[in-house]
Amino acid sequence: MIKGVILAGGNGTRLRPLTLVTNKHLLPVYNKPMIYYPLETLIGMGLKDILIVSGREHAGHFLHLLGSGKDFGVRLSYEVQEEAGGIAEALGLAEDFADGGKLAVILGDNIFEDHQQIIKAAKDFIAQERGSKIMLKEVRDPERFGVAEVVGQKIIGIEEKPKHPKSNLIVTGLYFYDRHVFDIIKTLRPSGRGELEITDVNNAYIAAGTMTFEIVAGEWTDAGTFESLLKAGNLVAHKLSA
Ligand code: DAU
Repeated sequence: MIKGVILAGGNGTRLRPLTLVTNKHLLPVYNKPMIYYPLETLIGMGLKDILIVSGREHAGHFLHLLGSGKDFGVRLSYEVQEEAGGIAEALGLAEDFADGGKLAVILGDNIFEDHQQIIKAAKDFIAQERGSKIMLKEVRDPERFGVAEVVGQKIIGIEEKPKHPKSNLIVTGLYFYDRHVFDIIKTLRPSGRGELEITDVNNAYIAAGTMTFEIVAGEWTDAGTFESLLKAGNLVAHKLSA
């Protein structure tokens, strides 16, 4: 069985002043704290062992909210990311937890409607001998995301927040990795925005020819801007709580 990681660090600057005294992933999305949704996505895959990476200031709040995981029927562990050094840096903190095994990694602000497809994707990844799998989604505002270039059935590259996106297919925040992810993270250098980028990790797998992908069939959104937070609330209210 693979283990799960939820990345819930970062400063949530795009949601200020909502995030001045609390963490983005504790904000409400309709009737639950945001982090419940990625947690439920991982639990839906049948994962039992889940690590939550969060920033120093709010780590205690996550522990207070989610505890041991007993209420969810899973075992939760916690790691602290001292500063918001990027998604890949946060993932690097999961190396001991992963213990040489495969991981499903989800960003704490990502909300997926259709769990059936994701369950199948997780099974396919477990059967995949090595490498990584990512989930793509067609959106109207690709310049906000990592944008994939796909030729036929092959993904040939990802650009992080390009001014001129090569497609409408973006990389969602659900990733599957084998143990080599930690070797790749150790080779990364900070990007222009001073972060270790998950897109650089994914491009390393693409270059190695070991990246597979699927296109998300159901609705998906992130919730890191006012507009997407509202969209997430509406998605949950109209689709997930129906
Ligand atoms: O939502 C999908 C997108 O997420 C991808 O398409 C992009 O390729 C990827 O870079 C990311 O873009 P964002 O600009 O939305 O990332 P953001 O900085 O908002 O971080 C997303 C989550 O990652 C955040 O909710 C918590 C976690 N995170 C982020 C940073 C910067 C950490 O745990 N630690 C961090 O230092």
